[in-house]
Amino acid sequence: MRGGPTAIGLPGGQLRGRQREREALDRLLASARAADGAVLVVYGEPGVGKTALVQYAVQSAHGFRVTQALGVEGEMELPFAALQQMCASFIEFTEHLPQPQREALAVAFGLSEGPAASPFFVGLAVLGLMAEAAAERPLLCVVDDAQWLDRASARALTFVARRLLAERIALVLATRDRGDALAGLPELHVEPLGRRDARALLESVLPAWHGTNHSPDNIFIHLPDHDALMLVDIVNPGWPPVCQSNLTEDVPGFIAAPDTALTYPWKHFIGGHMGRLGNRNDVATHRQYMADISDSSRKALDTVDPTPYFIKYGENPLAAVREYLDAITAAAAAPVIDKYAGVLAAADIFTASTVFHVMQSIRLDLGYGSQVHP
Ligand SMILES: Nc1ncnc2c1ncn2[C@@H]1O[C@H](COP(=O)(O)OP(=O)(O)OP(=O)(O)O)[C@@H](O)[C@H]1O
Ligand SMILES: [Mg+2]
Repeated sequence: MRGGPTAIGLPGGQLRGRQREREALDRLLASARAADGAVLVVYGEPGVGKTALVQYAVQSAHGFRVTQALGVEGEMELPFAALQQMCASFIEFTEHLPQPQREALAVAFGLSEGPAASPFFVGLAVLGLMAEAAAERPLLCVVDDAQWLDRASARALTFVARRLLAERIALVLATRDRGDALAGLPELHVEPLGRRDARALLESVLPAWHGTNHSPDNIFIHLPDHDALMLVDIVNPGWPPVCQSNLTEDVPGFIAAPDTALTYPWKHFIGGHMGRLGNRNDVATHRQYMADISDSSRKALDTVDPTPYFIKYGENPLAAVREYLDAITAAAAAPVIDKYAGVLAAADIFTASTVFHVMQSIRLDLGYGSQVHP
């Protein structure tokens, strides 16, 4: 029997695959439960799934007190910003700390004035606070986006991480880049998802996608290392869609595709045909071209009067419909052809067939202007 990809609940989705990584996080939580304090640095490329994994840990930490902090790019210059966030929910335990640590923490967190806090005392204070917080039940501390930790917080957390011994504490740091500060701590490298899970994930986030061309899993292929996006048979750089919207099966999906394409960061566009690479302008021009066709089609549907055709053909309503649709197409295509002459090659040749296709989709998919049925 083939096992399907396993999935667990995530806010807003399902965690796919990641057996090895889940086991590592499960082990970390089990250690903390057994009073064997543990730390794990989860690192990997942007978007590879680190936050999804640390959120898996948060959801698996039954019976734990959980505290979370976030490195924030704009706060990297604010000493102790992230540490303060992490300790906020158990700051009341400060009163159990020895005085020098209490004072150091108060200065670090801006609760009192004084000479710059000694990193050593701050580190000890945080360790003490966490130990107090873990006295009632185990503690999971999650620090996401640790690549943006302010230096002071990173140093204090590393200090703590190296001293978690017989504590019921688990510390998870997720980072794009381990940097010097986190070097030497136990690590979990997050690799890109396997092909099957990646495909299942793609299908799950595009549930309404009908497949504008060959198959739903090969539409948007983003290659961040090459700064490139591949989107076959949608945008033909330098040309309008050929025939009827490049013969797509799904006109609303075809019209929406450039918006999706432009949400990814890339510079080079591979459209699949027509022998030249594209760029973001090509995709934006195509998007505008399709929007102009939609607008123009609606206008023509609103303004071209069917009556004369039905009068002309009397007993032959299908001939009337045919001529009426041709008239709408011609009226809608004319301003678009004018606008894109010299912008998209062969706009004069291909625009009418795409106009017809889009106009029919507006009538039949969107129910606009469909008073006369073909
Ligand atoms: N295994 C997975 N199963 C389901 N969804 C996932 C999985 N991994 C990642 N995702 C989804 O992919 C998207 C990117 O993942 P995530 O935010 O976790 O990446 P990241 O590594 O934290 O990125 P960044 O470096 O930008 O913080 C999110 O929407 C996330 O829910
Ligand atoms: Mg993240």
